[in-house]
Amino acid sequence: MKPLFYLNKYFKKYRVYLGFGIVFVVCSNIFAILVAPIVRTAIDSMIANVKLYSILDVSQTTLLTHISAMALFFGGLVLASAIIKGVFMYFMRQTIIVMSRYIEFDLKNEIFEHYQRLGASFYSKNYTGDLMNRISEDVSQVRMYLGPAIMYSINLVVLFILVISVMVSINPTITLYVLLPLPFLSISIYYVSEIINKRSSVLQAKLSGITTYVQEAFSGIRVLKAFAAEKHFGSEFSAKSEDYKKQYMRLVQVNALFFPLTMMLVGLSVITTIYFGGKQVIAGTFSFGNIAEYVIYVNMLTWPVASLGWVTSIIQRASASQERINAFLNEKPEERSGNTDVTFNDALEFDSVDFSYDKAPTLENINFRIKKGQTLGIIGTTGSGKSTIASLLLRLYKPVEGTITMDGADINDLELARYRELFGYVPQDIFLFSETIRENILFGSNNERTEEDIEEVATLSDVWEDIQHFPAQLETVLGERGITLSGGQKQRVAIARALIRKPEILVLDDSLSAVDTNTERTIKNNLKKLGQNKTLVLISHRVSTVEDADYILVLDDGKIVEQGSPHDLMQTAGLFAEMVKTQNAQNQPV
Ligand SMILES: Nc1ncnc2c1ncn2[C@@H]1O[C@H](COP(=O)(O)OP(=O)(O)OP(=O)(O)O)[C@@H](O)[C@H]1O
Ligand SMILES: [Mg+2]
Repeated sequence: MKPLFYLNKYFKKYRVYLGFGIVFVVCSNIFAILVAPIVRTAIDSMIANVKLYSILDVSQTTLLTHISAMALFFGGLVLASAIIKGVFMYFMRQTIIVMSRYIEFDLKNEIFEHYQRLGASFYSKNYTGDLMNRISEDVSQVRMYLGPAIMYSINLVVLFILVISVMVSINPTITLYVLLPLPFLSISIYYVSEIINKRSSVLQAKLSGITTYVQEAFSGIRVLKAFAAEKHFGSEFSAKSEDYKKQYMRLVQVNALFFPLTMMLVGLSVITTIYFGGKQVIAGTFSFGNIAEYVIYVNMLTWPVASLGWVTSIIQRASASQERINAFLNEKPEERSGNTDVTFNDALEFDSVDFSYDKAPTLENINFRIKKGQTLGIIGTTGSGKSTIASLLLRLYKPVEGTITMDGADINDLELARYRELFGYVPQDIFLFSETIRENILFGSNNERTEEDIEEVATLSDVWEDIQHFPAQLETVLGERGITLSGGQKQRVAIARALIRKPEILVLDDSLSAVDTNTERTIKNNLKKLGQNKTLVLISHRVSTVEDADYILVLDDGKIVEQGSPHDLMQTAGLFAEMVKTQNAQNQPV
C-alpha cells in the first residue's frame, strides 16, 4: 500500500471531485437501502390487510383491487428510489472515475517529464520496452486503484455502516447470526488475493519481457530479415507467449475461486436469515416483512463483499505498479541548474580524468587541452574510449575522477542547457527521426531558421545535391514511413543538423567514416569556412580525417599513448606514425 501514498498529492489536487464523489456515494446508498423497508412495509401491511378483510368479510374482488392498488403504490416507490439511486450513481461515476482519468493524465505527464530529465547513464541501464510499459501498462493499473477501487471501497464502507446500523436497530441477535459468515469471507478472500497478487506480479514481469522482446525485434527488423531469423524469432516469441499464457491460466484458476466462494458464504447468510427469522416470526418478535427486508440487505452486501477481494487485488497490483513507477521517479535527474554565464573564450581541458561505465576502467588519466578555434583529432583503436571522451565532453556522463573545465570553470557547475547549446554533436550511431529531412535538420535549433540557413548547412555538409535528387527534396520523409538514406547520406544530414545550431564547438564522432575520401576533404574544407573561432573535435579511425588537425590524441585501451601536432607525432616512431604508414600503404593504387 505504501507506494500508493505517492498519489495522495493528486487526491489533494482533485479533492473537490473526491468530496462530491463521497457525497454522491452516500446519497445513492441511502436510496438503495430504502428499497428494503419499503418491501417490508408492503408485505406487512398487505398481510395485515388480508387479515383485516377476512374479519370484515368483504368480497374477493374488493380485496384484490385494494391489494393491487397497494402493490402498485409500493412498486412505484421502489421504482422511484431505484431511479434516484441510479441518478446519484451516475454522478458518483462522473466525479470519481473522471478524477481517476485526470490523475492518470497528470501521472503520465509527470513520468514523461521525468524521463526527459534523466541522464544517459539511466538510459544505458534500462530497456525501452520497460520504460514504455511503466508509462502505459503500470499507469493503467494505478488508474484502476484511483477510480474503481476507491469508488467501491467508499461504497463498501458507506453501505456497511448504513445497512448494519439499520439491521441492528431492528433485531441485534438475528443480525449477529446473519453476519457471522462475513469475517470468514473476508479472511478467505484475503488469502486468495495474496496468491493472486503473487501470480499477477510474475505475470506483469513476463509481459514486460515480451514487450521488450518484440520492441527490440521490430527495431532491428532489418537485421532480423537479413539473417533470415524470422523463424527463430517466431518460435522464441511463441515460447514466451506460451509461458505467459500458462502463468495467466494459473491466475485465472485462483480468480475463478473467488466468485463461488463469495456466493456460497452469502448463501449461508440467506439461509441463516430465513431459519432464525422464521423462528422469531413464530415467537412473534419478527415479521414476515422483516425476513424479506433482511434477505434484501444480505443481497445488498453481496456485491460489496465480493468486490472486497477484487478491490484488494486491484490495490495490490496498483501498489506493485506504483512501486515500479516510483523506482524510476526516484532516479536522480541530470543536474541542470548552475552558472548561467556560459561562454567559451579560451580552452577546454581534461585534467586527470578517469571514467568507467561499470567496474572496469574505460578511461584512465586523460589529460589534454583544446584551445578555442583549434581542431583536435582523436584517433585510436576500436574500443579505446574515443566516443567516451565525446560523451564526457557533452556531459552525457560525469568523470569518476578528475575534472573537465571550460575557461577554467568545472563544466559540471555550468547550466546544462546553455552548456550543451555551445555544441554541435554528431554521435557515432546516428539516429534520424521518421520525419522529413527538413524537420531532421531543424531538430534542436531553438531559434527561427530560414530556408537559406538550411541550404547553407546542407551545402556545407555536402548533402544538398543528394537532397535535390530526392522525390520531395527537403520534404522527403525518412525512416519507417519514408525512404532510407545511405550510411553516408545519414552522416551528412546529421552533420547539417549539428551545424544549424551554429555551434561554438563541433564534435564529429566517426562521422565521415561512410563517405569517400574526396567527400571527406570537401566537407573538411567547408568546415574551415565556418570561421577561425569555431572549435572542432574530429574522432576517427582514419588517419586522413585527423591528419591536418592542430593537435592529435592517440588512444589505446583507455589511455592517451601519444599526443601532439601531427608533425611531432610523425617524428616519434609511435602508434600514430605506424597507422599513417599502414593506412597509406592500403591506399596505394595497385
Ligand atoms: N554505455 C556503455 N556501457 C558500458 N560500457 C560501454 C558503454 N559504451 C561503451 N562502453 C565500453 O567502453 C569502452 C570504450 O568504448 P568507446 O565507444 O568509447 O570506444 P571507441 O574508441 O569509440 O570505439 P570505436 O572506435 O569502435 O567507436 C568499450 O570497451 C565499450 O565496450
Ligand atoms: Mg566510438
